[in-house]
Amino acid sequence: MEDGKRVYIFDTTLRDGEQAPGFSMTTEEKLQMAHQLANLGVDVIEAGFAAASKGDFEAIKRIAQEVKGPVICSLSRANHGDIEAAAQAIEPAERKRIHTFIATSPIHMEYKLKKKPEEVLEIAKSAVAFARNFTDDVEFSCEDATRSEREFLYKIIEEVIKAGAKVINIPDTVGYAIPEEFGRLIRDIMENVPNIDKAILSVHCHDDLGLAVANSLAGVKNGVRQVECTINGIGERAGNAALEEIVMALRVRHDYFGELYTNVNTKEIYKTSRLLCRITGSFVPPNKAIVGDNAFAHESGIHQHGVLSHRLTYEIMSAEDVGFPKSRNIVLGKHSGRHALKLKLNEYGINYTEEDVERIFAKLKELADKKKEIYDEDIEALIYQEFMKLEDQEPIEVEHFQVQSGDNLVPTATVKLYFKGEERTATSTGNGPVDATIKAIQKALNINSSLVDYSIKALTPNTDAQAEARMVLELDGVRASGRGVDTDIIKASVKAFVDALNRAILRKDYILQKSNVRREGTV
Ligand code: KIV
Ligand code: ZN
Repeated sequence: MEDGKRVYIFDTTLRDGEQAPGFSMTTEEKLQMAHQLANLGVDVIEAGFAAASKGDFEAIKRIAQEVKGPVICSLSRANHGDIEAAAQAIEPAERKRIHTFIATSPIHMEYKLKKKPEEVLEIAKSAVAFARNFTDDVEFSCEDATRSEREFLYKIIEEVIKAGAKVINIPDTVGYAIPEEFGRLIRDIMENVPNIDKAILSVHCHDDLGLAVANSLAGVKNGVRQVECTINGIGERAGNAALEEIVMALRVRHDYFGELYTNVNTKEIYKTSRLLCRITGSFVPPNKAIVGDNAFAHESGIHQHGVLSHRLTYEIMSAEDVGFPKSRNIVLGKHSGRHALKLKLNEYGINYTEEDVERIFAKLKELADKKKEIYDEDIEALIYQEFMKLEDQEPIEVEHFQVQSGDNLVPTATVKLYFKGEERTATSTGNGPVDATIKAIQKALNINSSLVDYSIKALTPNTDAQAEARMVLELDGVRASGRGVDTDIIKASVKAFVDALNRAILRKDYILQKSNVRREGTV
Protein backbone atom coordinates (compact mmCIF):
# COMPACT_ATOMS: atom_id res chain seq x y z
CA MET A 1 0.00 0.00 0.00
CA GLU A 2 1.29 3.42 -1.02
CA ASP A 3 1.01 5.63 2.05
CA GLY A 4 -1.41 3.74 4.27
CA LYS A 5 -3.97 6.50 3.62
CA ARG A 6 -5.54 5.16 0.46
CA VAL A 7 -8.85 3.33 0.70
CA TYR A 8 -9.34 0.98 -2.24
CA ILE A 9 -12.79 0.90 -3.77
CA PHE A 10 -13.89 -2.58 -4.80
CA ASP A 11 -17.05 -2.28 -6.87
CA THR A 12 -19.37 -5.27 -6.86
CA THR A 13 -22.31 -3.72 -8.77
CA LEU A 14 -21.86 -6.30 -11.53
CA ARG A 15 -21.74 -9.26 -9.13
CA ASP A 16 -23.53 -8.76 -5.78
CA GLY A 17 -25.61 -5.92 -7.29
CA GLU A 18 -26.50 -7.79 -10.43
CA GLN A 19 -27.60 -10.90 -8.53
CA ALA A 20 -30.43 -8.94 -6.84
CA PRO A 21 -33.92 -9.36 -8.35
CA GLY A 22 -34.67 -6.76 -11.01
CA PHE A 23 -31.04 -5.82 -11.64
CA SER A 24 -29.83 -8.43 -14.11
CA MET A 25 -27.92 -7.10 -17.09
CA THR A 26 -26.92 -8.41 -20.51
CA THR A 27 -23.23 -8.77 -21.39
CA GLU A 28 -23.34 -5.55 -23.44
CA GLU A 29 -24.93 -3.67 -20.56
CA LYS A 30 -22.36 -5.02 -18.10
CA LEU A 31 -19.63 -3.93 -20.45
CA GLN A 32 -21.06 -0.43 -20.71
CA MET A 33 -21.33 -0.26 -16.93
CA ALA A 34 -17.77 -1.57 -16.47
CA HIS A 35 -16.36 1.11 -18.79
CA GLN A 36 -18.15 3.75 -16.74
CA LEU A 37 -16.85 2.22 -13.48
CA ALA A 38 -13.36 2.55 -14.95
CA ASN A 39 -14.07 6.24 -15.74
CA LEU A 40 -15.27 6.63 -12.18
CA GLY A 41 -11.88 5.39 -11.01
CA VAL A 42 -12.77 2.34 -8.94
CA ASP A 43 -9.80 0.14 -8.07
CA VAL A 44 -11.39 -3.27 -8.55
CA ILE A 45 -14.38 -4.35 -10.62
CA GLU A 46 -15.92 -7.62 -9.48
CA ALA A 47 -17.32 -8.44 -12.89
CA GLY A 48 -19.33 -11.52 -11.92
CA PHE A 49 -19.24 -15.07 -10.66
CA ALA A 50 -17.68 -17.05 -13.52
CA ALA A 51 -18.92 -20.49 -12.46
CA ALA A 52 -22.50 -19.28 -11.91
CA SER A 53 -23.52 -19.31 -15.59
CA LYS A 54 -22.19 -19.23 -19.13
CA GLY A 55 -23.50 -15.66 -19.43
CA ASP A 56 -21.60 -14.55 -16.34
CA PHE A 57 -18.43 -16.20 -17.62
CA GLU A 58 -18.71 -14.48 -21.02
CA ALA A 59 -19.43 -11.08 -19.47
CA ILE A 60 -16.39 -11.31 -17.18
CA LYS A 61 -14.21 -12.35 -20.10
CA ARG A 62 -15.38 -9.45 -22.30
CA ILE A 63 -14.80 -7.01 -19.45
CA ALA A 64 -11.34 -8.52 -18.86
CA GLN A 65 -10.55 -8.10 -22.56
CA GLU A 66 -11.88 -4.60 -23.01
CA VAL A 67 -11.87 -2.61 -19.78
CA LYS A 68 -8.54 -1.07 -18.86
CA GLY A 69 -7.48 0.45 -15.57
CA PRO A 70 -9.14 -1.34 -12.66
CA VAL A 71 -8.26 -4.85 -11.49
CA ILE A 72 -10.83 -7.27 -12.95
CA CYS A 73 -12.06 -9.85 -10.49
CA SER A 74 -14.30 -12.92 -10.49
CA LEU A 75 -15.92 -14.46 -7.47
CA SER A 76 -15.52 -18.21 -6.90
CA ARG A 77 -16.52 -20.65 -4.19
CA ALA A 78 -13.62 -22.40 -2.50
CA ASN A 79 -13.34 -25.28 -4.95
CA HIS A 80 -11.02 -26.01 -7.85
CA GLY A 81 -13.74 -25.99 -10.53
CA ASP A 82 -14.98 -22.51 -9.59
CA ILE A 83 -11.45 -21.18 -9.28
CA GLU A 84 -10.48 -22.53 -12.72
CA ALA A 85 -13.58 -20.92 -14.26
CA ALA A 86 -12.73 -17.61 -12.57
CA ALA A 87 -9.10 -17.85 -13.74
CA GLN A 88 -10.14 -18.49 -17.35
CA ALA A 89 -12.67 -15.67 -17.36
CA ILE A 90 -10.27 -13.02 -16.04
CA GLU A 91 -7.31 -14.34 -18.03
CA PRO A 92 -7.26 -11.53 -20.66
CA ALA A 93 -7.16 -8.75 -18.05
CA GLU A 94 -4.02 -6.68 -17.53
CA ARG A 95 -4.54 -6.91 -13.76
CA LYS A 96 -6.62 -9.78 -12.39
CA ARG A 97 -7.94 -11.02 -9.09
CA ILE A 98 -9.61 -14.23 -7.92
CA HIS A 99 -11.96 -13.72 -5.01
CA THR A 100 -12.69 -16.97 -3.24
CA PHE A 101 -14.91 -17.45 -0.20
CA ILE A 102 -16.31 -19.93 2.26
CA ALA A 103 -18.66 -19.47 5.19
CA THR A 104 -17.10 -19.40 8.66
CA SER A 105 -20.09 -18.99 11.00
CA PRO A 106 -21.37 -21.98 13.00
CA ILE A 107 -24.84 -21.69 11.47
CA HIS A 108 -23.53 -21.70 7.87
CA MET A 109 -20.93 -24.41 8.49
CA GLU A 110 -23.42 -26.74 10.17
CA TYR A 111 -26.58 -26.23 8.07
CA LYS A 112 -25.34 -25.05 4.69
CA LEU A 113 -21.89 -26.58 4.26
CA LYS A 114 -22.44 -29.51 6.64
CA LYS A 115 -18.78 -29.37 7.52
CA LYS A 116 -16.70 -29.17 10.68
CA PRO A 117 -14.62 -26.00 11.23
CA GLU A 118 -11.37 -27.99 10.68
CA GLU A 119 -12.62 -29.13 7.27
CA VAL A 120 -13.59 -25.55 6.35
CA LEU A 121 -10.11 -24.39 7.36
CA GLU A 122 -8.46 -26.96 5.06
CA ILE A 123 -10.78 -26.10 2.15
CA ALA A 124 -10.02 -22.40 2.54
CA LYS A 125 -6.22 -22.93 2.60
CA SER A 126 -6.31 -25.24 -0.37
CA ALA A 127 -8.56 -22.88 -2.38
CA VAL A 128 -6.27 -19.90 -1.81
CA ALA A 129 -3.13 -21.89 -2.64
CA PHE A 130 -4.78 -23.21 -5.82
CA ALA A 131 -5.94 -19.73 -6.87
CA ARG A 132 -2.35 -18.46 -6.51
CA ASN A 133 -1.42 -20.70 -9.48
CA PHE A 134 -3.32 -18.26 -11.71
CA THR A 135 -2.62 -14.86 -10.17
CA ASP A 136 -0.75 -13.32 -7.27
CA ASP A 137 -3.78 -11.25 -6.43
CA VAL A 138 -6.04 -13.54 -4.41
CA GLU A 139 -8.76 -12.31 -2.07
CA PHE A 140 -10.36 -14.49 0.57
CA SER A 141 -13.76 -13.81 2.21
CA CYS A 142 -14.99 -15.33 5.46
CA GLU A 143 -18.68 -15.41 4.58
CA ASP A 144 -20.95 -14.45 7.49
CA ALA A 145 -17.91 -13.19 9.40
CA THR A 146 -20.00 -11.11 11.79
CA ARG A 147 -21.70 -14.24 13.15
CA SER A 148 -18.47 -16.28 13.25
CA GLU A 149 -16.56 -17.22 16.39
CA ARG A 150 -13.63 -14.89 16.97
CA GLU A 151 -10.93 -17.52 17.57
CA PHE A 152 -11.91 -19.45 14.44
CA LEU A 153 -11.96 -16.24 12.42
CA TYR A 154 -8.44 -15.28 13.58
CA LYS A 155 -7.16 -18.77 12.78
CA ILE A 156 -8.61 -19.03 9.27
CA ILE A 157 -7.43 -15.51 8.38
CA GLU A 158 -3.90 -16.30 9.57
CA GLU A 159 -3.81 -19.56 7.60
CA VAL A 160 -5.16 -18.16 4.31
CA ILE A 161 -2.63 -15.34 4.48
CA LYS A 162 0.09 -18.00 4.86
CA ALA A 163 -1.43 -19.79 1.86
CA GLY A 164 -1.06 -16.60 -0.21
CA ALA A 165 -4.17 -14.41 0.20
CA LYS A 166 -3.36 -10.74 -0.33
CA VAL A 167 -6.74 -9.32 0.65
CA ILE A 168 -8.88 -10.51 3.54
CA ASN A 169 -12.52 -9.55 3.32
CA ILE A 170 -14.83 -9.43 6.33
CA PRO A 171 -18.41 -9.58 5.09
CA ASP A 172 -21.42 -8.70 7.18
CA THR A 173 -23.30 -11.07 4.91
CA VAL A 174 -26.68 -10.76 6.60
CA GLY A 175 -26.44 -7.09 7.57
CA TYR A 176 -26.52 -7.93 11.27
CA ALA A 177 -23.71 -5.79 12.68
CA ILE A 178 -23.92 -2.51 14.57
CA PRO A 179 -21.19 0.05 13.72
CA GLU A 180 -19.43 0.17 17.09
CA GLU A 181 -19.40 -3.60 17.35
CA PHE A 182 -18.23 -4.00 13.75
CA GLY A 183 -15.42 -1.51 14.29
CA ARG A 184 -14.40 -3.54 17.35
CA LEU A 185 -14.36 -6.74 15.29
CA ILE A 186 -11.99 -5.14 12.80
CA ARG A 187 -9.76 -3.85 15.60
CA ASP A 188 -9.70 -7.31 17.19
CA ILE A 189 -8.68 -8.89 13.88
CA MET A 190 -5.90 -6.30 13.50
CA GLU A 191 -4.68 -7.07 17.00
CA ASN A 192 -5.07 -10.86 17.06
CA VAL A 193 -4.01 -12.11 13.64
CA PRO A 194 -0.20 -12.10 13.78
CA ASN A 195 0.43 -11.79 10.02
CA ILE A 196 -2.42 -9.34 9.24
CA ASP A 197 0.14 -6.74 8.08
CA LYS A 198 0.83 -9.02 5.05
CA ALA A 199 -2.69 -8.40 3.70
CA ILE A 200 -5.12 -5.59 3.03
CA LEU A 201 -8.19 -5.82 5.22
CA SER A 202 -11.50 -5.31 3.45
CA VAL A 203 -15.18 -5.05 4.40
CA HIS A 204 -18.35 -6.01 2.55
CA CYS A 205 -21.50 -4.92 4.37
CA HIS A 206 -25.15 -5.59 3.62
CA ASP A 207 -27.91 -3.15 4.45
CA ASP A 208 -30.57 -5.27 6.17
CA LEU A 209 -30.66 -2.88 9.13
CA GLY A 210 -29.81 0.17 7.05
CA LEU A 211 -26.29 0.18 8.50
CA ALA A 212 -24.12 -0.99 5.60
CA VAL A 213 -22.41 2.36 5.03
CA ALA A 214 -22.06 3.10 8.76
CA ASN A 215 -20.53 -0.35 9.35
CA SER A 216 -18.14 -0.01 6.41
CA LEU A 217 -16.98 3.37 7.69
CA ALA A 218 -16.53 1.97 11.19
CA GLY A 219 -14.33 -0.65 9.54
CA VAL A 220 -12.29 2.01 7.77
CA LYS A 221 -11.86 3.97 11.00
CA ASN A 222 -10.38 0.83 12.55
CA GLY A 223 -7.88 -0.07 9.86
CA VAL A 224 -9.75 -1.39 6.83
CA ARG A 225 -8.27 -0.20 3.52
CA GLN A 226 -10.63 -1.75 0.99
CA VAL A 227 -14.39 -1.25 0.91
CA GLU A 228 -16.67 -3.43 -1.19
CA CYS A 229 -19.69 -1.50 -2.37
CA THR A 230 -22.12 -0.95 -5.22
CA ILE A 231 -23.53 1.96 -7.20
CA ASN A 232 -26.82 3.16 -5.67
CA GLY A 233 -26.30 0.51 -2.97
CA ILE A 234 -27.88 -2.29 -5.04
CA GLY A 235 -27.25 -5.89 -3.96
CA GLU A 236 -28.75 -8.94 -2.31
CA ARG A 237 -31.93 -8.24 -0.29
CA ALA A 238 -31.64 -4.69 1.12
CA GLY A 239 -28.44 -4.18 -0.87
CA ASN A 240 -24.79 -3.41 -0.20
CA ALA A 241 -23.04 -0.30 1.06
CA ALA A 242 -23.53 2.48 -1.51
CA LEU A 243 -20.27 3.43 -3.20
CA GLU A 244 -21.22 7.08 -3.58
CA GLU A 245 -21.94 7.40 0.15
CA ILE A 246 -18.68 5.76 1.20
CA VAL A 247 -16.60 7.87 -1.16
CA MET A 248 -18.28 11.15 -0.27
CA ALA A 249 -18.22 10.45 3.48
CA LEU A 250 -14.46 9.91 3.29
CA ARG A 251 -14.05 13.06 1.26
CA VAL A 252 -16.39 15.37 3.17
CA ARG A 253 -15.18 14.10 6.57
CA HIS A 254 -11.50 13.99 5.68
CA ASP A 255 -10.91 15.58 9.08
CA TYR A 256 -12.57 12.71 10.94
CA PHE A 257 -11.05 9.90 8.89
CA GLY A 258 -7.45 11.04 9.31
CA GLU A 259 -6.83 12.16 5.73
CA LEU A 260 -7.85 8.89 4.14
CA TYR A 261 -8.68 9.18 0.44
CA THR A 262 -9.94 7.17 -2.54
CA ASN A 263 -9.01 7.48 -6.20
CA VAL A 264 -12.60 7.92 -7.31
CA ASN A 265 -13.36 10.82 -9.62
CA THR A 266 -16.42 12.03 -7.74
CA LYS A 267 -17.61 14.13 -10.69
CA GLU A 268 -18.52 10.85 -12.44
CA ILE A 269 -20.77 9.66 -9.60
CA TYR A 270 -24.09 11.05 -10.83
CA LYS A 271 -23.51 9.83 -14.38
CA THR A 272 -22.67 6.32 -13.15
CA SER A 273 -25.72 6.22 -10.92
CA ARG A 274 -28.05 7.27 -13.73
CA LEU A 275 -26.44 4.87 -16.21
CA LEU A 276 -27.23 2.02 -13.85
CA CYS A 277 -30.83 3.26 -13.54
CA ARG A 278 -31.20 3.45 -17.31
CA ILE A 279 -29.72 0.01 -17.87
CA THR A 280 -31.73 -1.75 -15.17
CA GLY A 281 -34.92 0.33 -15.43
CA SER A 282 -34.63 1.21 -11.74
CA PHE A 283 -35.10 4.53 -9.94
CA VAL A 284 -33.26 5.96 -6.96
CA PRO A 285 -35.57 7.48 -4.35
CA PRO A 286 -35.58 11.30 -4.50
CA ASN A 287 -34.18 11.51 -0.97
CA LYS A 288 -31.32 9.04 -1.61
CA ALA A 289 -28.05 10.47 -0.26
CA ILE A 290 -25.65 11.90 -2.86
CA VAL A 291 -27.56 10.84 -6.01
CA GLY A 292 -31.28 11.34 -5.26
CA ASP A 293 -33.05 14.11 -7.19
CA ASN A 294 -33.58 16.04 -3.95
CA ALA A 295 -30.06 15.52 -2.59
CA PHE A 296 -29.17 19.13 -3.43
CA ALA A 297 -32.67 20.63 -3.59
CA HIS A 298 -33.86 23.28 -1.17
CA GLU A 299 -37.53 24.10 -0.75
CA SER A 300 -37.88 25.75 2.62
CA GLY A 301 -37.62 29.52 2.51
CA ILE A 302 -35.18 29.61 5.42
CA HIS A 303 -32.89 27.09 3.74
CA GLN A 304 -33.19 28.83 0.37
CA HIS A 305 -32.26 32.18 1.86
CA GLY A 306 -29.36 30.47 3.65
CA VAL A 307 -27.83 28.77 0.61
CA LEU A 308 -28.38 31.80 -1.58
CA SER A 309 -26.46 33.90 0.95
CA HIS A 310 -23.77 31.30 1.59
CA ARG A 311 -23.89 27.78 0.16
CA LEU A 312 -22.25 26.17 3.20
CA THR A 313 -25.15 27.16 5.45
CA TYR A 314 -27.12 24.13 4.24
CA GLU A 315 -24.79 22.19 1.90
CA ILE A 316 -21.89 20.07 3.13
CA MET A 317 -20.74 19.29 -0.40
CA SER A 318 -21.52 20.81 -3.75
CA ALA A 319 -23.68 19.28 -6.43
CA GLU A 320 -20.86 19.85 -8.93
CA ASP A 321 -18.56 17.63 -6.83
CA VAL A 322 -20.70 14.61 -7.64
CA GLY A 323 -21.46 15.67 -11.21
CA PHE A 324 -25.08 16.76 -10.76
CA PRO A 325 -26.28 18.47 -13.94
CA LYS A 326 -28.00 21.29 -12.01
CA SER A 327 -25.62 23.04 -9.67
CA ARG A 328 -28.14 24.16 -7.11
CA ASN A 329 -31.73 23.20 -7.14
CA ILE A 330 -33.93 25.84 -5.63
CA VAL A 331 -37.39 24.30 -5.66
CA LEU A 332 -40.38 26.56 -5.46
CA GLY A 333 -43.13 25.19 -3.26
CA LYS A 334 -45.28 26.04 -0.31
CA HIS A 335 -42.28 26.46 1.99
CA SER A 336 -40.30 28.71 -0.32
CA GLY A 337 -39.50 32.33 0.12
CA ARG A 338 -39.23 35.43 -2.05
CA HIS A 339 -35.48 35.01 -2.63
CA ALA A 340 -36.10 31.78 -4.51
CA LEU A 341 -38.90 33.32 -6.54
CA LYS A 342 -36.64 36.20 -7.58
CA LEU A 343 -34.00 33.70 -8.61
CA LYS A 344 -36.55 31.92 -10.82
CA LEU A 345 -37.70 35.20 -12.38
CA ASN A 346 -34.08 36.04 -13.15
CA GLU A 347 -33.61 32.60 -14.67
CA TYR A 348 -36.53 33.29 -17.01
CA GLY A 349 -35.08 36.66 -17.93
CA ILE A 350 -38.07 38.59 -16.57
CA ASN A 351 -37.92 42.22 -15.42
CA TYR A 352 -39.94 42.59 -12.24
CA THR A 353 -40.77 45.04 -9.52
CA GLU A 354 -41.17 44.33 -5.79
CA GLU A 355 -44.95 44.52 -6.28
CA ASP A 356 -44.72 41.84 -8.99
CA VAL A 357 -42.84 39.62 -6.58
CA GLU A 358 -45.48 40.13 -3.85
CA ARG A 359 -48.33 39.38 -6.24
CA ILE A 360 -46.77 36.25 -7.73
CA PHE A 361 -45.59 35.10 -4.34
CA ALA A 362 -49.16 35.19 -3.00
CA LYS A 363 -50.43 33.25 -6.02
CA LEU A 364 -47.65 30.73 -5.65
CA LYS A 365 -48.59 30.04 -2.03
CA GLU A 366 -52.24 29.70 -3.05
CA LEU A 367 -51.32 27.20 -5.75
CA ALA A 368 -49.02 25.29 -3.41
CA ASP A 369 -51.83 24.89 -0.88
CA LYS A 370 -54.10 23.47 -3.54
CA LYS A 371 -51.68 21.13 -5.30
CA LYS A 372 -49.83 18.21 -3.75
CA GLU A 373 -46.82 18.69 -5.93
CA ILE A 374 -45.70 21.80 -7.76
CA TYR A 375 -43.72 21.26 -10.92
CA ASP A 376 -41.43 23.68 -12.71
CA GLU A 377 -44.05 23.82 -15.44
CA ASP A 378 -46.70 25.10 -12.98
CA ILE A 379 -44.43 27.91 -11.85
CA GLU A 380 -43.55 28.77 -15.38
CA ALA A 381 -47.24 28.90 -16.32
CA LEU A 382 -47.93 31.18 -13.36
CA ILE A 383 -45.10 33.52 -14.26
CA TYR A 384 -46.07 33.71 -17.92
CA GLN A 385 -49.73 34.27 -17.13
CA GLU A 386 -48.78 37.11 -14.84
CA PHE A 387 -46.36 38.78 -17.17
CA MET A 388 -47.96 38.12 -20.53
CA LYS A 389 -51.62 37.81 -19.59
CA LEU A 390 -51.81 34.62 -21.60
CA GLU A 391 -54.46 32.78 -19.60
CA ASP A 392 -56.22 31.12 -22.51
CA GLN A 393 -53.57 31.25 -25.13
CA GLU A 394 -52.04 27.85 -25.71
CA PRO A 395 -50.32 28.27 -29.08
CA ILE A 396 -50.78 24.60 -30.00
CA GLU A 397 -53.94 22.60 -29.50
CA VAL A 398 -54.02 19.01 -30.72
CA GLU A 399 -57.47 18.12 -31.99
CA HIS A 400 -56.72 14.46 -32.58
CA PHE A 401 -54.04 12.03 -33.58
CA GLN A 402 -54.05 8.48 -34.83
CA VAL A 403 -51.17 5.98 -34.79
CA GLN A 404 -50.73 2.65 -36.51
CA SER A 405 -48.21 0.34 -34.94
CA GLY A 406 -47.55 -3.39 -34.61
CA ASP A 407 -44.79 -5.96 -34.93
CA ASN A 408 -45.10 -5.99 -38.75
CA LEU A 409 -45.84 -2.33 -39.39
CA VAL A 410 -43.78 0.78 -39.81
CA PRO A 411 -45.22 3.03 -37.05
CA THR A 412 -47.15 5.82 -38.76
CA ALA A 413 -48.98 8.74 -37.16
CA THR A 414 -51.38 11.39 -38.44
CA VAL A 415 -52.19 14.54 -36.45
CA LYS A 416 -54.65 17.38 -36.77
CA LEU A 417 -53.84 20.42 -34.65
CA TYR A 418 -54.34 24.16 -34.41
CA PHE A 419 -51.40 26.52 -34.22
CA LYS A 420 -52.45 30.00 -33.04
CA GLY A 421 -55.89 29.20 -34.45
CA GLU A 422 -54.74 27.89 -37.83
CA GLU A 423 -55.57 24.28 -38.75
CA ARG A 424 -52.63 22.02 -39.63
CA THR A 425 -52.40 18.29 -40.45
CA ALA A 426 -49.43 16.01 -41.14
CA THR A 427 -48.45 12.36 -41.33
CA SER A 428 -45.11 10.82 -40.45
CA THR A 429 -43.45 7.50 -39.84
CA GLY A 430 -41.07 7.02 -36.93
CA ASN A 431 -39.01 4.75 -34.81
CA GLY A 432 -41.94 3.62 -32.66
CA PRO A 433 -45.40 5.15 -32.19
CA VAL A 434 -44.29 8.01 -29.91
CA ASP A 435 -41.52 9.02 -32.30
CA ALA A 436 -43.93 8.89 -35.28
CA THR A 437 -46.48 11.13 -33.51
CA ILE A 438 -43.90 13.64 -32.39
CA LYS A 439 -42.44 13.80 -35.88
CA ALA A 440 -45.93 14.35 -37.31
CA ILE A 441 -46.50 17.25 -34.88
CA GLN A 442 -43.16 18.79 -35.80
CA LYS A 443 -44.00 18.42 -39.49
CA ALA A 444 -47.39 20.06 -39.04
CA LEU A 445 -45.75 22.97 -37.25
CA ASN A 446 -42.74 23.05 -39.53
CA ILE A 447 -40.38 23.19 -36.56
CA ASN A 448 -37.39 21.16 -35.50
CA SER A 449 -37.20 20.86 -31.76
CA SER A 450 -34.70 18.50 -30.16
CA LEU A 451 -35.52 16.28 -27.22
CA VAL A 452 -33.15 16.72 -24.25
CA ASP A 453 -34.83 14.33 -21.83
CA TYR A 454 -37.82 11.98 -21.86
CA SER A 455 -39.07 9.75 -19.09
CA ILE A 456 -42.25 7.81 -18.59
CA LYS A 457 -43.42 6.01 -15.50
CA ALA A 458 -46.55 4.28 -14.27
CA LEU A 459 -48.14 6.09 -11.33
CA THR A 460 -49.65 2.87 -9.93
CA PRO A 461 -48.48 -0.73 -10.43
CA ASN A 462 -51.33 -1.94 -12.70
CA THR A 463 -51.52 -2.40 -16.46
CA ASP A 464 -54.39 0.15 -16.56
CA ALA A 465 -52.31 2.64 -14.56
CA GLN A 466 -52.02 6.33 -15.34
CA ALA A 467 -48.69 6.98 -17.03
CA GLU A 468 -46.79 10.17 -16.36
CA ALA A 469 -44.56 11.41 -19.18
CA ARG A 470 -42.06 14.21 -18.76
CA MET A 471 -40.11 15.81 -21.58
CA VAL A 472 -37.48 18.48 -21.83
CA LEU A 473 -36.89 19.93 -25.27
CA GLU A 474 -35.04 22.71 -26.97
CA LEU A 475 -36.54 24.94 -29.65
CA ASP A 476 -34.22 27.50 -31.28
CA GLY A 477 -32.04 27.64 -28.18
CA VAL A 478 -34.98 27.90 -25.76
CA ARG A 479 -35.34 25.04 -23.32
CA ALA A 480 -38.69 24.05 -21.79
CA SER A 481 -40.16 21.10 -19.97
CA GLY A 482 -43.60 19.53 -20.13
CA ARG A 483 -45.67 16.94 -18.35
CA GLY A 484 -48.55 14.74 -19.46
CA VAL A 485 -50.65 12.16 -17.65
CA ASP A 486 -52.92 9.60 -19.32
CA THR A 487 -53.77 5.90 -19.19
CA ASP A 488 -52.49 5.73 -22.78
CA ILE A 489 -48.70 6.10 -22.82
CA ILE A 490 -48.64 7.60 -26.33
CA LYS A 491 -51.24 10.18 -25.31
CA ALA A 492 -49.29 10.97 -22.12
CA SER A 493 -46.15 11.50 -24.22
CA VAL A 494 -47.94 13.69 -26.77
CA LYS A 495 -49.39 15.80 -23.94
CA ALA A 496 -45.93 16.21 -22.40
CA PHE A 497 -44.41 17.12 -25.77
CA VAL A 498 -47.09 19.68 -26.64
CA ASP A 499 -46.96 21.09 -23.10
CA ALA A 500 -43.19 21.62 -23.42
CA LEU A 501 -43.52 23.00 -26.94
CA ASN A 502 -46.19 25.50 -25.86
CA ARG A 503 -43.91 26.75 -23.11
CA ALA A 504 -40.93 27.03 -25.44
CA ILE A 505 -43.02 29.03 -27.92
CA LEU A 506 -44.40 31.30 -25.18
CA ARG A 507 -40.96 31.86 -23.84
CA LYS A 508 -39.64 32.67 -27.31
CA ASP A 509 -42.54 35.07 -27.85
CA TYR A 510 -41.84 36.74 -24.53
CA ILE A 511 -38.15 37.18 -25.32
CA LEU A 512 -39.08 38.62 -28.70
CA GLN A 513 -41.68 40.95 -27.17
CA LYS A 514 -39.12 42.16 -24.63
CA SER A 515 -36.44 42.81 -27.22
CA ASN A 516 -38.96 44.73 -29.40
CA VAL A 517 -39.90 46.90 -26.43
CA ARG A 518 -36.23 47.53 -25.82
CA ARG A 519 -35.61 48.35 -29.48
CA GLU A 520 -38.61 50.68 -29.61
CA GLY A 521 -37.35 52.42 -26.48
CA THR A 522 -33.93 53.08 -27.96
CA VAL A 523 -35.11 54.41 -31.34
O1 KIV B 1 -22.27 -11.06 1.31
C1 KIV B 1 -21.31 -11.84 1.20
O2 KIV B 1 -20.87 -12.48 2.14
C2 KIV B 1 -20.72 -11.98 -0.13
C3 KIV B 1 -19.44 -12.72 -0.20
C4 KIV B 1 -19.43 -13.69 -1.31
C5 KIV B 1 -18.31 -11.77 -0.23
O3 KIV B 1 -21.23 -11.44 -1.09
ZN1 ZN C 1 -22.61 -9.83 -0.43
